[in-house]
Amino acid sequence: MRPLLFAANWKMHVGPRDAREYLAIFRHAYAPLPERQVWFFPPAVSLEAVVEGLTHREDLLAGAQDIHWEPKGAYTGAISGPLAAQAGARAVLIGHSERRHVFGETDAETGKKVDAALKAELLPVLCVGETLAQREAGETVAVVTRQLAAALENESTALDKVTIAYEPVWAIGTGRNATPKDAAQVHAEIRQWLKARKAGTTRILYGGSVNLKNAADLLAEAELDGVLVGGASLEPAGWAELVRTAAA
Ligand code: 13P
Repeated sequence: MRPLLFAANWKMHVGPRDAREYLAIFRHAYAPLPERQVWFFPPAVSLEAVVEGLTHREDLLAGAQDIHWEPKGAYTGAISGPLAAQAGARAVLIGHSERRHVFGETDAETGKKVDAALKAELLPVLCVGETLAQREAGETVAVVTRQLAAALENESTALDKVTIAYEPVWAIGTGRNATPKDAAQVHAEIRQWLKARKAGTTRILYGGSVNLKNAADLLAEAELDGVLVGGASLEPAGWAELVRTAAA
């Protein structure tokens, strides 16, 4: 069995009280399995509640959904790497397509955030992916490698701490997911990019409308080291079942 990472991005759902209830159900429904890790990315207000709910479970970890690149300062509404770490986060999503496309985050900003995450000893999960128009124009690989380069070019020594999530924008929250072969093809390109920088252990997750029905087929592709899941991670029993049953 190869190690698999199941990451739950709760986006703007699950407050602290709901998070406590969620984790009580999840922990009961999901006992640790060898070579499987589950990472939770709650909204910042729920981080501490999630961290408390994960105690004594080495297979579970909490992360932030975003950080600012500065460690502190007058940035109303933002949280920094050190603040997330103090709340118990050990990882952070960077450059999620909703950050890029809804909040206008740039490639250059993702680079500064990866840097800030590593300084705060958070494991960055860098999200990359093309829009439908870019895919149809045959630009998928160009877009993804541009996003990788912008965020990671300065981090060649730390690539083993980074996880990549390939999330085609057209597949997020749409019920339309890439076929396992489509996903594997892009993952192979990402792996090439990483290998050229001597990063042999960086994990590559797939995200975009992953659910209980399609997770096993996706993970049957050896190129996929795990999944990053939005909607299907919001219900604890269903998420536990997905993590438990998805084929290795
Ligand atoms: P959905 O699983 O809801 O499509 O969201 C995917 C995603 O954006 C995870 O980060």
